[in-house]
Amino acid sequence: MTEQKPVTEAQATAVPKTPALPDAQTVTEVQHYTDRLFRFRCTRPASLRFRSGEFVMIGLMGDPDPKTGKQKPLLRAYSIASPSWDEEMEFYSIKVEDGPLTSKLQHIKPGDEIILRPKPVGTLVHDALIPGKRIWFFATGTGFAPFASLLREPQTYEDYDEVIITHTCRTVGELTYGRELIEALKEDELLNELIGEGFWKKIKYYPTTTREDSPKMGRITDLINSGEAYKDLGVEPLNPEFDRAMICGNLAFNLELKDMLEAAGLEEGANSKPAQYVVEKAFLD
Ligand SMILES: Cc1cc2nc3c(=O)[nH]c(=O)nc-3n(C[C@H](O)[C@H](O)[C@H](O)COP(=O)(O)OP(=O)(O)OC[C@H]3O[C@@H](n4cnc5c(N)ncnc54)[C@H](O)[C@@H]3O)c2cc1C
Ligand SMILES: NC(=O)c1ccc[n+]([C@@H]2O[C@H](COP(=O)([O-])OP(=O)(O)OC[C@H]3O[C@@H](n4cnc5c(N)ncnc54)[C@H](OP(=O)(O)O)[C@@H]3O)[C@@H](O)[C@H]2O)c1
Repeated sequence: MTEQKPVTEAQATAVPKTPALPDAQTVTEVQHYTDRLFRFRCTRPASLRFRSGEFVMIGLMGDPDPKTGKQKPLLRAYSIASPSWDEEMEFYSIKVEDGPLTSKLQHIKPGDEIILRPKPVGTLVHDALIPGKRIWFFATGTGFAPFASLLREPQTYEDYDEVIITHTCRTVGELTYGRELIEALKEDELLNELIGEGFWKKIKYYPTTTREDSPKMGRITDLINSGEAYKDLGVEPLNPEFDRAMICGNLAFNLELKDMLEAAGLEEGANSKPAQYVVEKAFLD
């Protein structure tokens, strides 16, 4: 097991500059987890309101056009990983070696500017679900990001008796962001005050890896189909009367889980028609 220890490159020491770009926000903190994953925080536009679980378009200015010299913004969809009440914004990002945006974004430092279009949208929101007793958050890879927001959102614990978060990654190091975030929830002042001391006992965290040894190996889909996940978690199988779910991962994962939830009797919801589960892609492919 070769878990890479996170290295904080720099923390909240930046003095925000006057934004020069349209929709510019200033980076305040950057933390790298592996050679493929990092998180960063930035200032929040004063007028930006969003619901925990939504995504926005963020990016950087692209390279100058060789003919005209003009630069255009290079934007991508990103789940907001911070909760709606946070005064800053957090993002959890992949680093794609030849990715137009992330080959550059991975080098940002506190004090740098990013572009953030303040138009939040998305389906992974509490409003798209009808009331239930237990909520499942199913993530692979960077699909954990919207749940990093929802796990810090008081409504999650107000609405549900039990919160189950599953995170499947290839390697142990890719689980670090999620694991540290969940550990830190125990000390979260706002949630302890609003929901009550020990609120975190509502959370059942189920991390699994597929390509490196860890205490729980395997895809969550297989572990649920075999009944192993229910046994490990000590919970009853999915039941449309009590269970609600949100899915965020790669396309094949989303489709497989969607079929499993439908087979268990859950119906897909949307902002315009709340139901029992919702789904969103963690990246386009
Ligand atoms: C609704 C939505 C929300 C998203 N939220 C996030 C987020 O919170 N964090 C994040 O890192 N990305 C997120 N993405 C993906 C993001 O929009 C970009 O694709 C990513 O930042 C890479 O950009 P790029 O320009 O470097 O490469 P792109 O040209 O966009 O992608 C190149 C290739 O890299 C792979 N790839 C892209 N994104 C990922 C990823 N996240 N995980 C694994 N492989 C990937 C795919 O194979 C893709 O074809 C989201 C995408 C969507 C549609
Ligand atoms: N993660 C890396 O170290 C790495 C390195 C270089 C390049 N890449 C490339 O980057 C892209 C994304 O990689 P990623 O690791 O972030 O995301 P990913 O390929 O979506 O895998 C994330 C996790 O989801 C699991 N998974 C995939 N499909 C599933 C399904 N249908 N049901 C249940 N679980 C499923 C994977 O298990 P399996 O392992 O069983 O597929 C893995 O544990 C890929 O194109 C990959 O080739 C990744």
